Amino acid sequence: MARIGKVAWRSPSNIALVKYWGKKEVQLPLNPSISMTLTQCYTETAIEYTPRDDLKHPTFNLLFQGEKNVFFENKISSFIDVIAKEFSVLNSLHLDINTTNSFPHSAGIASSASSLSSLALCLLYINNKIMGVNMSEADFLRKASFMARLGSGSACRSVFGSFVLWGETVEIANSSDEYAISLTSQVDEKFNSYYDAILIVSSGEKSISSSQGHKLMDFNPYKDNRANVGKSNAINLINALKNGDEKMFRDIVEFEAANLHAMFLTSNPSFILIKPETLQIINKLKQFRDDTNLEFSFTLDAGPNIHLLYSEDIRHKMLSFIKTELIELCENGKWIDDKIGIGPILIDSQ
Ligand code: DP6
Repeated sequence: MARIGKVAWRSPSNIALVKYWGKKEVQLPLNPSISMTLTQCYTETAIEYTPRDDLKHPTFNLLFQGEKNVFFENKISSFIDVIAKEFSVLNSLHLDINTTNSFPHSAGIASSASSLSSLALCLLYINNKIMGVNMSEADFLRKASFMARLGSGSACRSVFGSFVLWGETVEIANSSDEYAISLTSQVDEKFNSYYDAILIVSSGEKSISSSQGHKLMDFNPYKDNRANVGKSNAINLINALKNGDEKMFRDIVEFEAANLHAMFLTSNPSFILIKPETLQIINKLKQFRDDTNLEFSFTLDAGPNIHLLYSEDIRHKMLSFIKTELIELCENGKWIDDKIGIGPILIDSQ
């Protein structure tokens, strides 16, 4: 049967500054999280859709980086089944999904945020097109964020550019545990030029998946404390972003990285994701900051790689330090020169 349409979205990865770690109910966060959306690390997902007669459930073929990928196929399959409960039109379609990441799988960069958000954007777009639903851009993005969250928590933040908040925060109107919102209008211009140098310490597979790690928080003795600390750090980081306060930004961001890894260390079973080179880089950065008084910060995701965050006005000095001192500690000298981004873009619709 002839295909009836095609849609493709590019959606970026994001780096969490206040971390989402631990869940409640259906994919809701223990505490609010805040991220910065990236530019260079993204996923492009294209879907060609064809009508079918058997209306029981959606069917799909998936190519990931041009190849079959069973692990990813299972994840996508449960995601599409969840989405089809609300968008029954998907049950009468066959989807040919082609998804590619801008960054190599071996870069050790989590791809679930960019891939699940690009997929959510495509599925919502298809539903609206076939059903003739007209949504404002704001409603479209909010709904896409809601859907992306059901696939992967951090994916709901990738639907927006700049700085993004996910999680109910009393002080912030319209904030919700169910979807993310943009903080763009509340950010001092100092932060709008932020770069993220992603220093690849190791590209190996993680010893534990994020989903398994989140579950261990249910029994972590520091769970309630982590939730409270995450909550107050989110409020304080929003103030730092508003006021252009880089020192406060740094204090919170670096604490959050340490606290996240402390949760890994105190889980049962415990796990260690940092490597010796991670600590060596952190020590070098601290020394460099003491020597120069330059205002930059670093964070870690659930892995050994370092995200080095800094503004445009010190780029020259940071690049020179990265090249002369840090690259030697990266795996095969690998690092990604990324920066704050504008969020997803629709790249094809037919
Ligand atoms: C450490 O969003 O990957 O990167 O919701 O189970 O898919 P699932 O988990 P995921 O967790 C991300 C955890 C983190 C911190 C963050 O991005 O906030």
